[in-house]
Amino acid sequence: MIVVPGPASQSLGKKIAESLEAQVVPVKVKTFPDGEYALRFEGDVADEEVVVVQTTGPPQDTNLMQLLLMLDALKDLRAKKVTAVVPYLAFARQDKRFLGSEAVSAETIVKLIEACGIDRFVTVNIHSENTLKKFSVPTDNLSAITPLAEYFKGRGLKDVFSLSPDKGAVGLAEEADRVLGGGHGWLQKERDRYTGEIQVEEKCLNVKGRDVIVFDDIISTGGTTATAIEMLKSQGAQRVYAACAHPLLIGDAINKIVNSGAEEIVGTDSLPNSVRTVSLAPLITEALAR
Ligand code: R5P
Repeated sequence: MIVVPGPASQSLGKKIAESLEAQVVPVKVKTFPDGEYALRFEGDVADEEVVVVQTTGPPQDTNLMQLLLMLDALKDLRAKKVTAVVPYLAFARQDKRFLGSEAVSAETIVKLIEACGIDRFVTVNIHSENTLKKFSVPTDNLSAITPLAEYFKGRGLKDVFSLSPDKGAVGLAEEADRVLGGGHGWLQKERDRYTGEIQVEEKCLNVKGRDVIVFDDIISTGGTTATAIEMLKSQGAQRVYAACAHPLLIGDAINKIVNSGAEEIVGTDSLPNSVRTVSLAPLITEALAR
């Protein structure tokens, strides 16, 4: 097996290759003055099973385009089997028409990836599992929540309450609770589709004097997590932590969450970030080796 760590997932890709004891084939990017680029594999891929690791966070357009160029070229270079490992799938939140005649971006991205002739698609905590149903090839949606919860357990946190800041993501809190015990719950969040502003319904959570971890798939502006933490603090929660699979952490997200009363933000290496991370390498390696 060969692993190609894509330009956006150099470190994670190399870790996965190391755990799989697989050969690494580097990909070189040559950027032209107008911003276009050429990609070149520095090794032979013909007749090989190839795993490409490329996340698609900001800059999404470039990372997606480079993913597509790599996948398509590998098939053209006669790779035997191509697996796309895309820890964070960009545009996955636009998985339906929320407002009138919108483009359903998640479906378009799936069509483009599939058109490159891949044999398998692996991702982590995709925003909606329904998006994966659009693929005709086998897919895996791995979850970073168990490794995140294990990280907190390993730090000695006991009897911790797990909270999802959005009812639609209650499965994340349930999953964390299976590791942490201590119960779980969720909040009801509504987002204004025009302004992007969120409203979280006040709810009594019985967290007085307790430690709580807020689990979400994505932290982008930090608004959702910070609002949940403020509510927890106002109800007397003791220590509150923020955890997510995909730490986009745009703008002043970190300050916003810390100022809301969080002890710490913990993410994964699905995206480059400056908070504490739990690596996805063991999770992805295990799936690839299965
Ligand atoms: C949305 O439904 C996601 O699950 C996250 O809750 C959302 O992306 C977080 O966004 P933000 O950090 O900007 O509030």
